[in-house]
Amino acid sequence: MLTIQEALSQGTRLLDDERIVAPRLTAEVLLCHALHCERVYLYAHSEEPLTELAWIHYGRYLKERIDGKPTQYITQQQEFYGRAFFVSPDVLIPRPETEHLVEAALKYGRNSRMAIDVGCGSGAIAVTLALELKHARVFASDISPGAVKVARRNAETHGAKVRFLDGDLLAPVRDGSMDLVASNPPYVPRTDEPSLQREVRDFEPEVALYGGPTGNEMYGRLIPEALRVLKPGGWLIMELGYRSLKPVRRLLHSEWRAVQAIDDLGGIPRVLVAQKVP
Ligand SMILES: C[S@@+](CC[C@H](N)C(=O)[O-])C[C@H]1O[C@@H](n2cnc3c(N)ncnc32)[C@H](O)[C@@H]1O
Repeated sequence: MLTIQEALSQGTRLLDDERIVAPRLTAEVLLCHALHCERVYLYAHSEEPLTELAWIHYGRYLKERIDGKPTQYITQQQEFYGRAFFVSPDVLIPRPETEHLVEAALKYGRNSRMAIDVGCGSGAIAVTLALELKHARVFASDISPGAVKVARRNAETHGAKVRFLDGDLLAPVRDGSMDLVASNPPYVPRTDEPSLQREVRDFEPEVALYGGPTGNEMYGRLIPEALRVLKPGGWLIMELGYRSLKPVRRLLHSEWRAVQAIDDLGGIPRVLVAQKVP
């Protein structure tokens, strides 16, 4: 039977031959998943032989990754804002860029009593807001029942008090009831589908990716609905697609003020903040 060190070398070579990015790191993460251990264990026990069961599991995970399945769907886990979230193919894998949205929501919505995450997916935003915004009642909605199930599970795991609403965007929300509307809506243009990475195109849920032919269609629906449910002076905070800033700005009419875009670490406008005129 191979040792941990040998298994890592073999796995890294296999992944590298198939042009998987970060082959060594991926092999380590997959081997840890097979062994139910932390990465440091691999180095402290590098000469230990793998059990037959661990070898079988590791081999299966390597095959899944080579076939394009994202590592996070194999390990069923993704870190977001310092917490581990369960993920399944029913939800988008939370991205680090979305932490900029959370930062903006915590800044502008810090005094919120009522907040909602629209299109909650795994619940990464809603759970984080519920844990970080001490005075807010946090709601979350998603059109996908599978996503709501995953988000509920994450809220329970983290002891976050989130109330889940079923329905299309903000349809289940009363007029003028919210201080904060946060959303990372689907914004990939349908026309980009052929050029997406296969990990995204073939494995992440379509309903979480595509925002319509131009990608901006969901903003066109979300902005007027947010205007309806926000209290005067309430904040709308949305993640932006990489070509969304201009068209989305055009949708924010005189009922909005303090409109600003926040760049991500790559210098791309990633978050749009707007306040409903008080
Ligand atoms: C880009 S994902 C964001 C998921 C999560 N908030 C995150 O940031 O990782 C968009 C989410 O919006 C949901 N969604 C799509 N259309 C919707 C609609 N009409 N009403 C409510 N949710 C919708 C999808 O199911 C998906 O979970």
